[in-house]
Amino acid sequence: MIVVGGSASRRLAWEIARELNCRFSQPEIKSFPDGELYVRIPEDLSGEEVVVVQSTPPPQNENLMQLLLLLEASLEQGPRTLRAVVPYLAYARQDKIFKKGEALSLKLVSQLIEKAGAEEVLVVDIHERESLSYFSVPVKNVSAAPLLGRYFRGMNLKDPLFLGPDEKAVQQASLAARELGAAFDSLEKERLSPELVVTSSKELRVRDRDAVIIDDIISTGGTIAEAAKILKRSGARRIFAACTHPVLSGNALEKMKAAGVEAVVGTNTIENSHSLVSVAPAVAEGLRQGSLDFY
Ligand code: R5P
Repeated sequence: MIVVGGSASRRLAWEIARELNCRFSQPEIKSFPDGELYVRIPEDLSGEEVVVVQSTPPPQNENLMQLLLLLEASLEQGPRTLRAVVPYLAYARQDKIFKKGEALSLKLVSQLIEKAGAEEVLVVDIHERESLSYFSVPVKNVSAAPLLGRYFRGMNLKDPLFLGPDEKAVQQASLAARELGAAFDSLEKERLSPELVVTSSKELRVRDRDAVIIDDIISTGGTIAEAAKILKRSGARRIFAACTHPVLSGNALEKMKAAGVEAVVGTNTIENSHSLVSVAPAVAEGLRQGSLDFY
């Protein structure tokens, strides 16, 4: 097996290759003077089991195009199998037509990845599992929540509560909490355009306890900030935020800090200064399982 690391996931790809004890390839990637991308994979991939690892965080379009070109460059060499690991799948939140006339972005993105040659796809904590049905090749969704939970083991938290800011995130809260034998719960969220409303219909028992708000994505930080305000009002001692995909757009960090969040812990599906947890073990395990499940 050989793992090809795109520029958005080079370090992660290298870690995956190390976990799998296989070869790592660093492709040549450059831009032509007019801005078009050029990729070349120098290793001989013919007859190999090839895994292309390339996340698609901002700049999404550029990273997506690089992923497609890396798949095409691999395919041209006649690999035995070709798999794509896309830790953060761009456009995953436009998985439905919310208003007449919109593009169904995720459907097109899925089709492009497939068309470029991916015979199987692995993603990490996709926004909605059902949306993976836009792929017609096998696709696997692995969760980073246990790894995030493990990170908090060493932090000496006081009677911690893992909190999903909406009902959907309760599964992540539960998987992370399990790593510490801790409690978990969730809030409710509604997007009443243009306002985001996070509420709790029940009493949160967090007085003098530490809390970790955990979600799949932190983008504007609005969801986490609203959840943190509820925790503060309920008497929480220390508040942390954790997520799989630290998109952290605009003033997300300032917003969360102002709401009482002490630290933000993300994974390296998006590589930045908040990617403190590597998803390499979970991805490697997913790849090791061989023929992938349908989500
Ligand atoms: C939405 O349902 C997701 O799970 C996240 O809660 C959301 O994408 C976070 O976005 P933001 O940080 O902009 O509130």
